[in-house]
Amino acid sequence: MAPKLENPPHAENSGTPSPHDLPPCAIVLFGATGDLTRRKLVPAFFSLYRQNQLPKYMVILAFARKPKTDETFRNDLYDALQEFAPDLATDLTGWNSFKQHLFYLQSQLDDPEGYLRLNRQLLEMDKSHRLQGNRLFYLATPPELFVPVIRRIKRAALSQIPSPDGPWTRIVIEKPFGFDLQSSQELDRELKTVFSEEQIYRIDHYLGKETVQNILALRFANRLFELLWNQQHIDNVQITVAETLGMEGRAAYFDTVGILRDMGQNHALQILSLIAMEPPVSLRADAIRDEKVKVLHSIRPIQGHEVTKYTIRARYTAGRIGDEEVIGYRGEPGVHPDSTTETYAALRLAIDNWRWASVPFYIRVGKRLPKRYTGVSIVLKNIPDVLYARLDCADVESNVLTLRIQPNEGVSLRMSAKEPGPGILIKPVEMDFAYQETFGKSIPDAYQRLLVDAIAGDPSLFARGDEVEAAWRLITPILESWAAGSEGLCEYPAGTWGPSITGDTSQFRTHQWINPK
Ligand code: BG6
Repeated sequence: MAPKLENPPHAENSGTPSPHDLPPCAIVLFGATGDLTRRKLVPAFFSLYRQNQLPKYMVILAFARKPKTDETFRNDLYDALQEFAPDLATDLTGWNSFKQHLFYLQSQLDDPEGYLRLNRQLLEMDKSHRLQGNRLFYLATPPELFVPVIRRIKRAALSQIPSPDGPWTRIVIEKPFGFDLQSSQELDRELKTVFSEEQIYRIDHYLGKETVQNILALRFANRLFELLWNQQHIDNVQITVAETLGMEGRAAYFDTVGILRDMGQNHALQILSLIAMEPPVSLRADAIRDEKVKVLHSIRPIQGHEVTKYTIRARYTAGRIGDEEVIGYRGEPGVHPDSTTETYAALRLAIDNWRWASVPFYIRVGKRLPKRYTGVSIVLKNIPDVLYARLDCADVESNVLTLRIQPNEGVSLRMSAKEPGPGILIKPVEMDFAYQETFGKSIPDAYQRLLVDAIAGDPSLFARGDEVEAAWRLITPILESWAAGSEGLCEYPAGTWGPSITGDTSQFRTHQWINPK
């Protein structure tokens, strides 16, 4: 039996950390009055606090423009909790204790004097709250403010040079990390004038989802799947990131970016990298990221005339989601009347390496689709045309392994079985594993995991600079080609699975899409 290896940092955290395991720190929240803080960060922080998973000595210091006091800020966050996590908001005793860790410092984000006050307040809090000088800057501002804030942090000398035993400074940066290859490189350069790569935590919250982490466990903690995981046995791979949501008040942002930047360049490509990567040499952060980035480098670039062949984009028109009539994209408040922004995108990608040569990888991402569903279907090659495949009474379909990332998280395998009775009736059947049923507990929100990891100093579930750059290198020529002409933009009624691409309307050809039931 092989000797057991030391746990990677990431595995050490897999139990419930006690607050004594996590270092004291100040979390400085830029963009603390925005949507992300209200919807995701506050419920995640409070939930961690209730589970005793935040450091014992910790403050969350908001640095933002709107005039507020500590008290009004705390009340506003409680309102947000009531709106976005009403179950958590019933724990008033817990909240009253948690809110003692929340503070507000009002400043314009470009005011140098504000950053000096921030520095002074942090130094005072180091003493009053025993923070030992550790700082976690969290950039949850609109993306156009990332660079100005980073520059101010630099000028105010708020970041400390890392040393093994001294205090640490880290920066968590939200997506979108840039708008295209060039702007992401500029942002990266700017960051690196203040922080080293080890100090930078680029968020792709999909990496914090348990089911995304399970892709590696499924592949490398089982012998069965890895044997089939190659072009000899796999026919095609389909990755779907589908939402029923429309704009939900985010049109001003979304209309400038579109779905491929919003969820394709990051979430879908991260899933693809984990599905397609080679086994890493260890479970350490860099070993995994090294393999993921190799996949991105192996994807055949799509540019020029190939764009219409291997990509499709569309926007939703009015339609119906469940019982609700919904308006078309162009009618959404905040969308430019002449907008050519896509709300649906599909790509057919080729990975030019030994394992995946000739296996198409499809990605589709979309808003206002019939179901909220993120999943991966691995479609195996069909059986050879002998024996059962030749029988009329045998409905022999390809095996499909489906990884349900969300909701109803789980894994299922479609296979063929003989229906009991006389004769040979072959039918497709499903073997299914559901997290909730098996483990009997609900899956924590991705942000909880990511916040704990950033405080603990484990970057495994964050994107490394070269990964983000490789993803932009692939996506940017597609976006540029789309921007050069709007003729390829199709439409689909809200509540359908995207544009119909049969007949002569498009050069884009796919296998049959597998939609969730
Ligand atoms: C975000 C996108 O990154 O992911 C949003 O900006 C999208 O447009 C969201 O709604 C989806 O996240 P989740 O975790 O709900 O699938």
